[in-house]
Parts: sequence; C-alpha cells; structure tokens
Amino acid sequence: MKKSITRDEAIELLKQYEQSESDWNHYLETEAIMKALAKKLNENVEYWGMLGLLHDVDWGLTKNNWAEHCIKAEQILKEKGFDDEFIKIVQSHGYGYEEIPALKDKKRETKVEHALIAAETLTGLIYAYALMRGKKISDMEVKGLKKKFKDKKFAENCRRDLISEIEETGIELTEFFEIAIEAVKSIKDEIGLI
Ligand SMILES: [Fe+2]
Repeated sequence: MKKSITRDEAIELLKQYEQSESDWNHYLETEAIMKALAKKLNENVEYWGMLGLLHDVDWGLTKNNWAEHCIKAEQILKEKGFDDEFIKIVQSHGYGYEEIPALKDKKRETKVEHALIAAETLTGLIYAYALMRGKKISDMEVKGLKKKFKDKKFAENCRRDLISEIEETGIELTEFFEIAIEAVKSIKDEIGLI
C-alpha cells in the first residue's frame, strides 16, 4: 500500500512523456472515478486516485508499440519508489489484450484491479457521450449513458465487457454510472466539458 510521490510529482512525471490533450483528460477522469469508487468501497481514496492518474504512465512511450504498454510502466514506477503491489495493479489493466503478449494470459483478481479497468474504460464512453451532447455533462443522466452503453454502435471500440467488470467489486452497473458521471462532472472544467 505504498504511495511514494505526491499528486504534483505524479503530474510532473506524466509531463515527461508526450501526452495528447485527450490522454490528459483520460488520466484525470480515471483518477476522479477511482477516487469516487474508493470512497464508496471504503478504500484508500488517495491511493486509488494515484492508480487512476498513473495507470497509463508509459502510454506516451508505447502508444505506437502496444506490446510494451504496461510493461515499461514497471521501471518508471519503480524508479519513483512505487512498490510491487502498486505496479501490479497498474499492469493489470493490460491483462487479456492480445496486443500485449506478456500480459495476455493474466487474469485480474482483486477489487481494485477490476475497478481500475472498469473506470478507465468507462471514461471513453462518458467522454464520447458528452461530446455528442455538445460537451455538456452538467445535466447528463444515468438513463442516457445506459442507452449508449447498450447501443453497441456508439463508441464501438469501447469495451462494454471491461466496464461490466465493476460488478466484481459488488457495485452494480447503474450505480457505477451514477458514481462515474458525478465524478467526471466534478472535474468538468479541467477536461473541457461544460
Ligand atoms: Fe487508460
């Protein structure tokens, strides 16, 4: 359970690598959702937030070479003093991907691992839905998001099965949508939504 750097230091770390605006939005959204989930599950809010913020720490280096995604993260995080547990959770969001041979046969096991993959995947659906609504999230409702979740043609690359992994934490999908919409709403100004 060791978290070794401050949030400001984590932001500085991310800035060392090339990150697009949409990448930044994704990190901040994942952080916000993870914090809200931790609160709901009585877990360590700062720790879960840090996992969300840094889960794609190596993305700037690996986006053109997926096989290294989540692998390069190990060294980067180790150098910053994160322990094996933190690194394993970060890497677990790459489990099951054919594109990452070293991780493709691994299975997520813990609550926090399921929460991370579900949270980071749901950000894509929420952001796409907000864009469709003219960037408006302030009045986004669970009902609407649920419809988009069911409509497989909407944001079709967004893996619904990974979002559904939230149920492994004991939180139902509807409640997850509610928690996540509120979390993203709370940082809307930082991520270009209204
Ligand atoms: Fe991600």
